[in-house]
Amino acid sequence: MIPTKNPEQIEKMRAACKIAANVLDRLCQMAEAGVTTYDLDQEGKRLIEEAGAVSACYNYGFGDHRFPAYTCLSVNDEIVHGIGSMKRVLQDGDIISVDISLVYDGWIGDNCRSVGVGQLDEDARRLLEVTEEALYLGIEEARSGHRVGFISNAVEKYVRRQRYGIVREFVGHGVGRSMHEEPQIPNFGSRNRGDYLRPGMTLAIEPMITAGRSAVKMDRDGWTARTKDGSLAAHFEHTVLVTNGEPEILTLPDSWNGQVVRQYESNVANKG
Ligand code: MF3
Ligand code: CO
Repeated sequence: MIPTKNPEQIEKMRAACKIAANVLDRLCQMAEAGVTTYDLDQEGKRLIEEAGAVSACYNYGFGDHRFPAYTCLSVNDEIVHGIGSMKRVLQDGDIISVDISLVYDGWIGDNCRSVGVGQLDEDARRLLEVTEEALYLGIEEARSGHRVGFISNAVEKYVRRQRYGIVREFVGHGVGRSMHEEPQIPNFGSRNRGDYLRPGMTLAIEPMITAGRSAVKMDRDGWTARTKDGSLAAHFEHTVLVTNGEPEILTLPDSWNGQVVRQYESNVANKG
């Protein structure tokens, strides 16, 4: 059974998601050449805690397999769960996925964006555009009466048509009191799969897309997942509320003034 949230719980989700979105927004603005991913992680920790929240990444895991950083920072061929490092200095032309998951008042907000550092080449720019578009096509399907497979299928159909790879090892998920709740939301699969969506469900929808093949290789750190072929990967994620009507994106930063702002448009405007 997929949990639904009542109105009070949804208000708490809103608050957590708003903070997660604003932290993500600020960190993305910081992703410039010369900055290390360690600096970004430390600033992420500071911003999260300044807002009265706690990182949901730090210590995430079981036993002695625990995530050692406060944010997930994945550069170029890294797909997800990259760990900030003083040795990783961002360079012009890099892309970086900034993934922020935090707990506020007992509830989780989870969101991610991939951004370019300085001037991107056309391949990288296009990968960001397609991944972002895939996210919004998936969100469009997060409607009461639809099955989870509607989301999966919308993402897959679009991404395949663009001839990009879809990562299969990592999927979207329900989110609420814990970061990973039912259901799993793959970025591929048929429409008539999965549970039916109902108002009050909160879902983290998160396509992870590769410019080349989608096969994944894990680093020795046990966390960082990268493309086996070394191709670029991008990742966009929002936490979304299923309602009686339009899907409601809970992770809109204040700077977007209540509306979705497509990042590829701002990439083009600022950097193109
Ligand atoms: N947003 C990431 C996810 O849904 C957060 C993972 S926490 C980490 O998988 F500890 F694995 F980094
Ligand atoms: Co997530």
